[in-house]
Amino acid sequence: MERLLAICLLFGSLPAETRGLDAETELTTSDGGWVSSPESSLAEEGPCSIAIRDQSLTYSEFIEEYAYSKPVIVRGLSDNTKFRFLCSKAALLQHYGPRLVRLSTANTYSYRKVDVPFQEFVERLLRPQSPDTLGSDTLYFFGDNNFTEWHSLFQHYRPPPYALPHTSGAYSFGIAGPGTGVPFHWHGPGYSEVIYGRKRWFLYPPEKEPHFHPNRTTLSWLTDTYPSLPPDERPVECTIRPGEALYFPDHWWHATLNLDTSVFISTFLG
Ligand SMILES: *[C@@H]1O[C@H](CO)[C@@H](O)[C@H](O)[C@H]1NC(C)=O
Ligand SMILES: *[C@@H]1O[C@H](CO)[C@@H](O)[C@H](O)[C@H]1NC(C)=O
Repeated sequence: MERLLAICLLFGSLPAETRGLDAETELTTSDGGWVSSPESSLAEEGPCSIAIRDQSLTYSEFIEEYAYSKPVIVRGLSDNTKFRFLCSKAALLQHYGPRLVRLSTANTYSYRKVDVPFQEFVERLLRPQSPDTLGSDTLYFFGDNNFTEWHSLFQHYRPPPYALPHTSGAYSFGIAGPGTGVPFHWHGPGYSEVIYGRKRWFLYPPEKEPHFHPNRTTLSWLTDTYPSLPPDERPVECTIRPGEALYFPDHWWHATLNLDTSVFISTFLG
């Protein structure tokens, strides 16, 4: 393996067909091969007003300080090296290429679902969000995973170890292009973790419903509404990176924005 990699590096400038070793080279890069050409970020990382805690966070601190009251980002609480390796573009295409995946529109109330082969999604539909397209006209791959087919992947995911009492976790997995995301909505508590790419989060407590149009994208909200928000209407926000998981409490409003081509997984605590 090491030898193959050395050869790849040596002949890195040869066309892909000549090398024939794409999978190995891709696994060594930090984007898992998901970023094929330099991506111009459509948005910034922004400020962070959420606590970021590391392995020193105890379960009782999590329950007392965050579980029922505010979001928190946990870093390094579980090791997903293996899962990340299995989520490279080459590995997922190899295992899931011909399988159907269910896409949903990226609006608050997702009205439309479309089934396409995974490979077609990756090659034709996975792309940057166009700024003037509505969320209701943007297809997004997240959730609706067939757990029979995705079990062999999901069994390698290590979710953050702190669950809520009397809940069990259900996974939703997705991949999306830069500038995409889901506009404001709410549901039960859970975690969201990025495996590749960065994801910016905007949240409001349950009693503070934000102003947004359910069919507009998070990107358009960020461009049109966010800059003119008075200080007391600003969201709680942060950008998470691979190795970090954001916990959202029950009923908190939230919207997401993928800053890069991102692979992500949520654990819903129902
Ligand atoms: C999930 O995948 C399995 C195996 O391919 C298939 O038999 C089953 O019908 C699928 N379930 C749904 C709900 O699509
Ligand atoms: C959002 O888009 C859907 C699907 O096009 C449409 O049926 C619905 O009326 C729209 N909602 C609003 C509030 O514009």
